[in-house]
Amino acid sequence: MKPDVLVVAPWHPATLEALDREFVTHKLWLAADPKALLAACAERVRAIATSPFPRIDAALIDALPKLEIISCFGVGVDAIELAAAKRRDIIVTNAPNAMNDCVADLTLGLIIAVSRRVCEGDQFVRAGKWLKGPLPLARKVSGKRLGIIGMGRIGKVIARRAAAFDMVIAYHSRRRVEDSPLTYYGRLVDLAANSDFLVAILPGGKETWHLVNEEVLRALGPKGIFVNVARGSVVDEQALVKCLQEGALGGAALDVFEEEPRVPEALFTMDNVVLQPHVGSATQETRTAMGQITVDNLVAHFAGKPALTPVT
Ligand code: 8YV
Repeated sequence: MKPDVLVVAPWHPATLEALDREFVTHKLWLAADPKALLAACAERVRAIATSPFPRIDAALIDALPKLEIISCFGVGVDAIELAAAKRRDIIVTNAPNAMNDCVADLTLGLIIAVSRRVCEGDQFVRAGKWLKGPLPLARKVSGKRLGIIGMGRIGKVIARRAAAFDMVIAYHSRRRVEDSPLTYYGRLVDLAANSDFLVAILPGGKETWHLVNEEVLRALGPKGIFVNVARGSVVDEQALVKCLQEGALGGAALDVFEEEPRVPEALFTMDNVVLQPHVGSATQETRTAMGQITVDNLVAHFAGKPALTPVT
């Protein structure tokens, strides 16, 4: 008998096919009446297959009496109510490492895009404006000061990439990383004041909510560029818009948003802002690798083996 898996979000298609081969799947997001689907399979579901969105709350976890494991197609598990899972010894797994390269690549791409006016230049050529004169001068990237908020797996890869651009790299995180030669700032506002680019790559959730506030953005300053490849929740988005409108912040590159896929419209007309639809991990190679580990976690668990990448 194949175990029953509740799939709450539309995973990468090849991963879904693998899931369909291994398990009896119940696809919640496709159901015309999700409540009815849930009621029909609740007594049999032994696993949830989810992604960093939507929220997996205590009510859903408690509605599934046979639930043993939640496998997340992503590294961030801030949308899963971990305390509710822990109360029932439900294993939670994520997909770490697979996306380190791609998120780091995009981060450097975003820094370059904003500083060197890449998107603006593209629009400039397409709109025929080049015929009337040159694009305004951009700002140099190499050799600048990079502040990284969060020195986890991805933060470290970003730092490696940035070193190749001769950047002066510093970071802020809950604690100093023992084996890191990089400069550590215990106060985020001090890191911001000493950075040209400030990159957020830390977990979302209650503990980091609006960590990047107005004071931090003002410390980064009128020439500073803020890059968010973490979670929309880590920055006070209203303060961000306000600082950009007032010229108190030099620019921003944002892959994630507080209410995504809704993005504050005020950002749409700003030339010094580059916007992306949460694509840090969105390459064929990385999504395939993420899919593999998410399915492998479930397969291992139901074969009676330990999950491969448990979160807790
Ligand atoms: C998502 C992410 O996994 O891993 C994370 O935490 O935010 C992304 O890589 C991706 O958008 C699929 O939902």
